[in-house]
Amino acid sequence: MNVLVTGGMGYIGSHTCVQMIEAGLNPVILDNLSNSKQAVLGRIEALTDQRPTFYQGDIRDKSFLVELFKNENIDAVIHFAGLKAVGESVENPLEYYDNNVNGSLVLVDAMREAGVKKLIFSSSATVYAESDIQPMNEDFPKGASSPYGRSKLMVEECLTDFQKANPDWSITLLRYFNPVGSHPSGTMGEDPQGIPNNLMPYISQVAVGRRESLSVFGDDYPTKDGSGVRDYIHVDDLASGHISALNKVGSVSGLHTYNLGSGQGQSVFEMVRAFSEASGREIPYDITERRAGDLAEYFADASKAERELEWSTCRSIQDIARDTWRWQSQNPMGYSEGE
Ligand code: NAD
Ligand code: WQD
Repeated sequence: MNVLVTGGMGYIGSHTCVQMIEAGLNPVILDNLSNSKQAVLGRIEALTDQRPTFYQGDIRDKSFLVELFKNENIDAVIHFAGLKAVGESVENPLEYYDNNVNGSLVLVDAMREAGVKKLIFSSSATVYAESDIQPMNEDFPKGASSPYGRSKLMVEECLTDFQKANPDWSITLLRYFNPVGSHPSGTMGEDPQGIPNNLMPYISQVAVGRRESLSVFGDDYPTKDGSGVRDYIHVDDLASGHISALNKVGSVSGLHTYNLGSGQGQSVFEMVRAFSEASGREIPYDITERRAGDLAEYFADASKAERELEWSTCRSIQDIARDTWRWQSQNPMGYSEGE
């Protein structure tokens, strides 16, 4: 099976490509390298003995996509490509709507022309409205609070309408909770540019000495220890969710929506402790103000994916901390340009 993987050079896409190759699937990567490096390709090859076909290009470039679909015999598309920084989306909403919403529409239009009717889309738990009831299942009310979140919700809505009008298509919306962790080899991982926005990359850069100390954004939430609680999912568990989705629903037409999460909530302090134990290093931290827009606690009800995709997570926060540390300590500055 030939699968076009948009954004396949990125964090989640690259880990998914490794598992696809291991499962006998053939990923064809399309990425504009706006948030990833060419070196990823060599790392995938080193792990799998296969160098995926790579097209450097943009999902908003229709003629480029038409050409790609002509050259490759694509059976399905996994669509990771997009921008993902919440704060940046508030500063620059048009760029987010252009990349994420317009980009997705151009991609689907090119798929339609090429007769490719199977799509898996990277959505996010950020499409859910704030809720006092946890865990969240797929039917919870929607209501994103940032342009980034709204761009994901808009794409979900566009794809839902499109699938209704084209019932022979199979479209799967995967709502990720908090992806973290790295390949256990330590050769692939998350490589944020500039100051990390997210907790795990920040903790690991403190541990390796790139940053002085972690700011814990609030310790007075109504949670188990006062810090924010999230559902952290190892990127390899997330990657395997895509393989399950391809296997199970790739051949069944319809619109399918799944939460991909562990079903467990972990606090900031619990993540700091796990990382400190895995790395053998102290993680200095300060308690600061709450971050605007942050919620106290949310985590997934992932039972639908377990039932229908026969998928669930199998990696613990200890595995997450160990693998992240292996990646960070072996690659303190992330992927290097020259590889
Ligand atoms: P990432 O930035 O590491 O990967 C995205 C890739 O897409 C990058 O390699 C980037 O160069 C590429 N890209 C961006 N715009 C493009 C365009 N217009 N044309 C072609 N390529 C383009 O991000 P990730 O963490 O791997 O996330 C993958 C997807 O999952 C994104 O859609 C993101 O919104 C979604 N998601 C991520 C998280 C998370 O916390 N990481 C959570 C929920 C959902
Ligand atoms: C986790 C917890 C913070 C950094 C984001 C996006 C979401 C999704 C996943 C794409 C919170 C606390 C963090 C720090 C801290 N992405 N924290 N100090 O905000 O749950 O989700 O990534 O779809 O849309 O919003 O993840 O890792 O930023 O924060 O104390 O330096 O860690 O307050 O409780 P978040 P995060």
